[in-house]
Amino acid sequence: MKSIAIILAAGSGKRFNAEKKKQFVELFDKPLLYYSLKAFSESKADEIIVVTSKDDIDFVREDIVKKYGFSKVISIVAGGAERYDSVYNGLEKAKGDICMIHDSARAMISVEIINRCIEETFKYGAVVPVVAPKDTIRVRDGGFGGETIDRNTLCIIQTPQCFNVALIKSAFEKLYKTDYKNLGITDDAMVVEKFTDTKVRLIEGDYKNIKVTTPEDIVIAKAFLDAENC
Ligand code: CTP
Ligand code: MG
Repeated sequence: MKSIAIILAAGSGKRFNAEKKKQFVELFDKPLLYYSLKAFSESKADEIIVVTSKDDIDFVREDIVKKYGFSKVISIVAGGAERYDSVYNGLEKAKGDICMIHDSARAMISVEIINRCIEETFKYGAVVPVVAPKDTIRVRDGGFGGETIDRNTLCIIQTPQCFNVALIKSAFEKLYKTDYKNLGITDDAMVVEKFTDTKVRLIEGDYKNIKVTTPEDIVIAKAFLDAENC
């Protein structure tokens, strides 16, 4: 049984708002993308596909994949305008039984979660790691009022989002036959649940597995990576 990781690094990082794209910002002298590649390389994943912008393919190949000897990387492909377009481009290269779609911005992903995701996906076909929200959450209704939601009914979705390859491919084929730009798709589980009968299995994620999104997240990422490497 073959498992493939698709590591997404083709975003432009608008919310990060820096000169350098967040996936290439250096932490302890290594680009953020390095840390996800390291975790998947040390996991039970068999192959890795990296998706990055066309202009960054050479950099990723020479200065990350070759430099650090990430030999599980079988392909580096160009991404698309939206995250789901990048996922689709990665999926086209995925030949195997299950695939794990991971945001490179989640550099703190652990080998333990990856291996658990692989096991669970062989059982359930569709798996995402989640954590419980720590804050009280309210639906905004302008600048006043709005309803507070019972946080025990909510969860925060992380990656890797993991699927049987045939299932996720068929869901994406259907997605592109619709008015997909107006569906508000922000993750892969949404695509699977919208276009197939499969319900996604939620497994326990990790509070350390944050997505570097805004500038202050880099400080948190640095602290976690520092603690891990000590
Ligand atoms: N991503 C991608 N292709 C895109 C958009 C996003 O591969 N067209 C990747 C990003 O590189 C990131 C992951 O998907 O690792 C999660 O996306 P997000 O955190 O939203 O990153 P960006 O889209 O780069 O940031 P922003 O939304 O702030 O512009
Ligand atoms: Mg984005």
